Amino acid sequence: MLNLHSTLHVLEGIFTLTLAILSGIPAVNGAANNLTQIPDSSFSPNPTNVGFYLYVPSTLQAKPPILVNPHWCHGSAQDAFTGTQLATLADTYGYIMIFPDSPNTADKCWDVSSNQTLTHNGGGDSQGIVSMVNYVLQNYNADPTRVFSMGTSSGAMMTNVLLGSYPDVFAAGSAWAGVAFGCFAGNGYDVWSNDCATGTIIKSGAQWEAIVKAAYPSYTGFRPKMQVFHGTADTTLYPQNLAEEIKEWTAVLGLPSTPVQTLSNYPDSTWTTYIYGDTFHATNATGVTHNIQTNESVVIDWFDLQCRGTGCYSRPAYDYLFST
Ligand SMILES: *[C@@H]1O[C@H](CO)[C@@H](O)[C@H](O)[C@H]1NC(C)=O
Ligand SMILES: *[C@@H]1O[C@H](CO)[C@@H](O)[C@H](O)[C@H]1NC(C)=O
Ligand SMILES: *[C@@H]1O[C@H](CO)[C@@H](O)[C@H](O)[C@H]1NC(C)=O
Ligand SMILES: *[C@@H]1O[C@H](CO)[C@@H](O)[C@H](O)[C@H]1NC(C)=O
Repeated sequence: MLNLHSTLHVLEGIFTLTLAILSGIPAVNGAANNLTQIPDSSFSPNPTNVGFYLYVPSTLQAKPPILVNPHWCHGSAQDAFTGTQLATLADTYGYIMIFPDSPNTADKCWDVSSNQTLTHNGGGDSQGIVSMVNYVLQNYNADPTRVFSMGTSSGAMMTNVLLGSYPDVFAAGSAWAGVAFGCFAGNGYDVWSNDCATGTIIKSGAQWEAIVKAAYPSYTGFRPKMQVFHGTADTTLYPQNLAEEIKEWTAVLGLPSTPVQTLSNYPDSTWTTYIYGDTFHATNATGVTHNIQTNESVVIDWFDLQCRGTGCYSRPAYDYLFST
């Protein structure tokens, strides 16, 4: 946070992007390469047939970090790829991106409701996405201690689900306009919860913590850190969902329920960031609707993706190697 050095690196990445466009290099969103679709036969389990699109920069770190970026409802892997500068920044920093594509053709929302997706190794869309992570770890010598997920809207909801169901896989998450893990829990695959969306599902931190821990009851290891963002004028997923995410993750991460520090006008002039500890930050974006814009430099900083070599933010390798 407030890391001038890494912010400069992000600006450098955007500058490189401008140069790429000016010099006529084929580019979709400024990223130098295109997405590659990985055939379903190459990875498993993938019980709901989630589509697997991969972004691999031409120059990778020696042990590249992995950034998963699930799209929003009515979106696609390609939309998420072109929707932010994160793939362009992957060219600069040498991390690999996974863009899963929802198999649900009805609304292209992620399954964040089924018991399967909300259960560790229980199936659902979340398990297919984790199989993609395992594919990249195996095929690209990627770093199992630096696996991240970020997304907006349904992609933020899936980020909450991935961190809750697979705390042994992820090192951190960044969720923009999402809802707490388990808030959409319902009877079946990809069920829309109007109660959660409109902010009428309200629980205590202890209740949310119990829901997250029930996803993987035997797990006692490291919990990924999380940052969440929400607009105060969001009428798709009401702002109460920010308060529920705060209660949930501060409880799971063992943090105080009130902030230890407040940053006014950060990272945007009308936004307020509440710091509950090193492992959880929440940003209330005044006046912002559901169409909240990703601030790539904040995401890069949170995941420490500008870092190479030793001393980068990472999770302990132990949990990845010894839990299944
Ligand atoms: C990316 O795809 C576009 C459209 O198919 C193509 O024109 C371009 O050459 C591709 N770029 C690379 C680097 O493969
Ligand atoms: C969810 O699935 C798990 C594992 O399959 C099972 O133990 C649990 O009872 C299920 N919960 C519900 C609410 O169906
Ligand atoms: C976000 O800001 C709004 C408007 O000031 C306020 O009503 C709401 O309680 C804030 N939410 C949180 C979680 O601080
Ligand atoms: C993104 O966040 C950085 C702080 O890391 C801030 O300096 C910058 O102004 C923000 N960008 C936008 C568009 O809000």
